Order: sequence, then C-alpha cells, then structure tokens
Amino acid sequence: MDKLAIRGGRRLDGELRISGAKNAALPILAATLLTEDLVTIRNLPHLNDITTMIELLGCLGLDLTLDEKLSIEVNASHLSGFSAPYELVKTMRASILVLGPMVARFGKARVSFPGGCAIGSRPVDLHLKGLEAMGASISVDNGYINAEVEGRLQGARIVMETVTVGGTENLMMAATLANGRTVLENAAREPEVVDLAECLIAMGARISGHGTDTVVIDGIERLHGCDYTVMPDRIETGTYLVAAAATGGRVLLKGTCPHTLEVVLAKLEEAGARIEQGEDWVSLDMAGKRPRAVSIKTAPYPGFPTDMQAQFTAMNAIAEGTATVTETVFENRLIQTHEMNRMGAHIVIEGHTAIITGQPGLQGAPVMASDLRASASLVIAGLVARGETVIDRIYHIDRGYERIEEKLQTLGADIRRLSS
Ligand code: UD1
Repeated sequence: MDKLAIRGGRRLDGELRISGAKNAALPILAATLLTEDLVTIRNLPHLNDITTMIELLGCLGLDLTLDEKLSIEVNASHLSGFSAPYELVKTMRASILVLGPMVARFGKARVSFPGGCAIGSRPVDLHLKGLEAMGASISVDNGYINAEVEGRLQGARIVMETVTVGGTENLMMAATLANGRTVLENAAREPEVVDLAECLIAMGARISGHGTDTVVIDGIERLHGCDYTVMPDRIETGTYLVAAAATGGRVLLKGTCPHTLEVVLAKLEEAGARIEQGEDWVSLDMAGKRPRAVSIKTAPYPGFPTDMQAQFTAMNAIAEGTATVTETVFENRLIQTHEMNRMGAHIVIEGHTAIITGQPGLQGAPVMASDLRASASLVIAGLVARGETVIDRIYHIDRGYERIEEKLQTLGADIRRLSS
C-alpha cells in the first residue's frame, strides 16, 4: 500500500492549475446513461473515483473512449446488464447515482447498497423514497436495491427532509425522462448540482431553479448527446489555499472558480490571509505569518462545506488562539483529530464539535488516513510539522486529489510517494 512521506517546515510558494471537480464529474458520467446518443465529457480529473465510475459504466456495457487529455466519449445506446455490482459500488458511494438514470431510461436497475468513506451511516433512503414517489417500485435483496417501473416514471412533488447532494442529483436525472413535471423541494444548491443541471440542459433537459432549493424538471421523452466541460474542483482549490495558509506561504491557483468558495475565502481572510481573485483564478498570501484561529460550522451550500472542515481543523491546530469546529452534515467526521493529536495538536471532541487550542508547532509522526478529506488534513499537518510524517492508507487521498504529491512539490513541499 502506498504511503506519503513529508518533511514539514517549508513555506508553500508557487502556482498550480486546478483539476476538474470530482463531485461534478461523477454525476455527469452517470447522466450519460440517459441518452442513446454520443456524449463527450471534458476536464475529467485523473482520480480513482473517476476510474471506478468509468469501470461501472463499462460493466453495464457502455462503449467508452478515453483520451490522454481526460476527455471521454460515452455511447450508451445499448446496455449489456442492469446490475451495478457490490465489488465496484462498495468502494464508492457515488455509484448510487446510476440508479435514477437507469430506471428512468430502461425501466429497471439493480444497484448494490453503497460504501464509500467511513463517515457515518450515510443512508440512501431519500433517493429511494423520491424514486418511489415517481412511481418506481423498490425492493431490496441480498444487499442490492432493485428499482422497476412499468413504462415511464411519473413527475411528482418531492420534499426532501434533509438536504442531500446525491439525492437531488439522482432524482433530477430521473425526472428528466419522466412523464410530466417534477418539483424537488429542499433541494441541494451545491455548485456541482448546478453543473450537472447545466450538462442535462445541454442534453435537451428542461430544468429550472437549479442553484435554489426548488428545482423544477419538465420531463421529455428523450435526451440527446452533448459536449460538456466539467467545472473546476472547489474543494481541491480550497485545500491548496489552506495548505499555503497553514505554512505561512502564498499560492496562485488557475483554472478555478472562486465564486463557489465565498465562505471559505472569507474564513481564510479572517485567519489573516490576503486573498485576490478574478473570474477563474484566486491567490492567497500569508506573508509568513502564523494563521489566527477561525471557528467554523459546516452546513449545506452556500454554508461552510463539510469537505473543507478537516483542512481547517489542521490549520487551526497550529493557529494563534482557540477555535471550535462543528460538523453538522456527517457523523464521525472528526476522526482525523486523534491522528493530529499524535502529532502534538491539542484537540478535544465534545459531541459534534472539536475544540482546538492552537499550538506553536506540530511534530512529524507516522499517521493513518481514514477518509478522503481527513487524509488531506493530515497532509497539511505534515507540511507544517517539524521532522517527517508518513501517512499510511493514502488510497483514500488518491480517490479525490489528482497527483497531490506532484502538485505540492511544484509549490516547494518536500513530499514523496513511497510505493510498496
Ligand atoms: C456529497 C459529496 C460529498 C460531500 C457531501 C455533502 C459527491 C460524490 N459527494 O455526498 O463529498 O461531503 O455531498 O456536501 O458529490 N442523507 C440521508 N438520506 C439520504 C441521503 C443523505 O439521510 O438518502 C444524509 C447523509 O447521511 C448526510 C447528509 O444527508 O448526513 C448529506 O449527505 P449527501 O448530501 O447526500 O452526501 P453525498 O451526496 O453522499
């Protein structure tokens, strides 16, 4: 199993190009199931989760052509099967996103209950309730979800009791081919939901209200092909900004979308960073200073993203002052704090809140990654710590960060991959 070895203490300084957004690319790949025409998707990030989704589509019988620039052409005119197997689904929760498109276009789908990051129970009940409201019959056997409908799904008004990104995406995709109007209330407003909606619109779907909490979809009989470029990754952007801030450094990130990161940028300014931005770039300069502690509370978009929580926890570990970090979206998402305490951080957990007393420094240590964003926070801790940090189980990080060690080396970090 690969590891990352980091010698901390260097200020990050330099510029980087941001990759396509994992969390937009995954539902957009699933959306290719909705049409028999050719769909081209550009700006896919080079990540294990993307490979898993491509394998899943391949295993359903889709014809896929990937070029070296990470564009893909998908031809879903014929499927060879309707079952998404446990072996693939277990590694990635987003596999559930093939359920809505398959049942909408083919009237049937069988998908294993998903796995993914170990961050709480993460049910998919709202995906299933929504499909039932649209006329699908759902049954469960041997760990698999079966969804079926006679003819087309029916448009419905669906009020989701919790804001769910994947649930909104699954139901929005299903509704594009349903008979009549679907209204999704309490829908997720995340930029990735908007990117998926824009891709579906490019395929001919009739969608309005995306980016608000009420999304309206007027179903049509068929969608057509399109050529679509995935939005930049706002979480990758935020992670490199925090890494630069924690080391007192500076960074210029290109090919990104700062308007999707407003709360994160405001919090970095509160920590003492100077931020400048244009339409597709953002820069941060910490001018060698130690960051000030900043308290955060996660919430669905446009609130503070849960996917940036662990990185801010790492920055707070070495900041001046005390901060509280409250996680409201997922259970068990403060687990990485125990590993950080092994590096000399002072973090106490009370319920869903971490109370972090900033320390003047951390010490390198062998640590273990436990989920995707938690691993990023250990990398940040390693970058600021004195001595060597070796992070084990970095397959988590490879699910969501493209060539992280190469990108950090470009910024001057002493980081290398130890392959085994
Ligand atoms: C997506 C993102 C993930 C991010 C999360 C929240 C992708 C591939 N992943 O995950 O990186 O951390 O949004 O921004 O886009 N819930 C239910 N029932 C459901 C569905 C969800 O109770 O049917 C709960 C979950 O347990 C969780 C909350 O709703 O507590 C939010 O989950 P959700 O927004 O669905 O997350 P994902 O779409 O899985």
